[in-house]
Amino acid sequence: MRAQISPSILNCDIANLASELQRIDNADGVHVDIMDNHFVPNLSWGLPVAQAVVENTKLPIDAHLMITDADRWAPAYAEIGCHTVTAHAEATAAPVRLARELHRLGAQAGIALRPATPLAAIADVISEFDMLLIMTVEPGFGGQSFLDIMLPKIAQARALLSKDNLDIRLQIDGGVSRKTIERAAEAGANVFVAGSAVYKSEDAHREIDTLRELATTHLCG
Ligand code: DX5
Ligand code: ZN
Repeated sequence: MRAQISPSILNCDIANLASELQRIDNADGVHVDIMDNHFVPNLSWGLPVAQAVVENTKLPIDAHLMITDADRWAPAYAEIGCHTVTAHAEATAAPVRLARELHRLGAQAGIALRPATPLAAIADVISEFDMLLIMTVEPGFGGQSFLDIMLPKIAQARALLSKDNLDIRLQIDGGVSRKTIERAAEAGANVFVAGSAVYKSEDAHREIDTLRELATTHLCG
């Protein structure tokens, strides 16, 4: 299997969205960060911008909802054509119902964990999901340093998925770069969100290819 790179557009030049999406059109997906200034201390954007992303790329979109009322809003992201909609475990009251609703609407379902939330929070329901997102920074901002202390959790997540033979993507998000991607892949991640590493590079296409190559040679799951 090949590692997947999903650039976060959080810190792209949003006034030039279409060309910013072209810069990453060799990626495996586009990661759109939705923040409500409640679940995280930052405000980004909502449905209209996500819709503009859907309309300006052929790549599958993964919407990362950092919002308190995920049950209320997540289905709308499926309806506008996001490929995967990821809610935080801390912000959904009924994760199973939400996953099934997203599937009914034709989207894949993801579930995310903040750094302090243990895997046990989702272990009993993970089989309902298509992707598990382990945050490798405190959510809210791009450009933070990768939290090495999350590596054991990534490894535990890989073990949990392997134990039950679950074909679920294991995504990490935050501080992913050439310096950190190999250890995250070794620990068991196979989908990598990279914001600043990609958008701050001179040649985003090359950066994506490099990150993918580094991760693929270290994949363990
Ligand atoms: C953080 C967001 C991330 C972030 C990634 O809350 O969920 O997607 O923008 O940016 P970098 O790669 O710069 O950490
Ligand atoms: Zn994100």
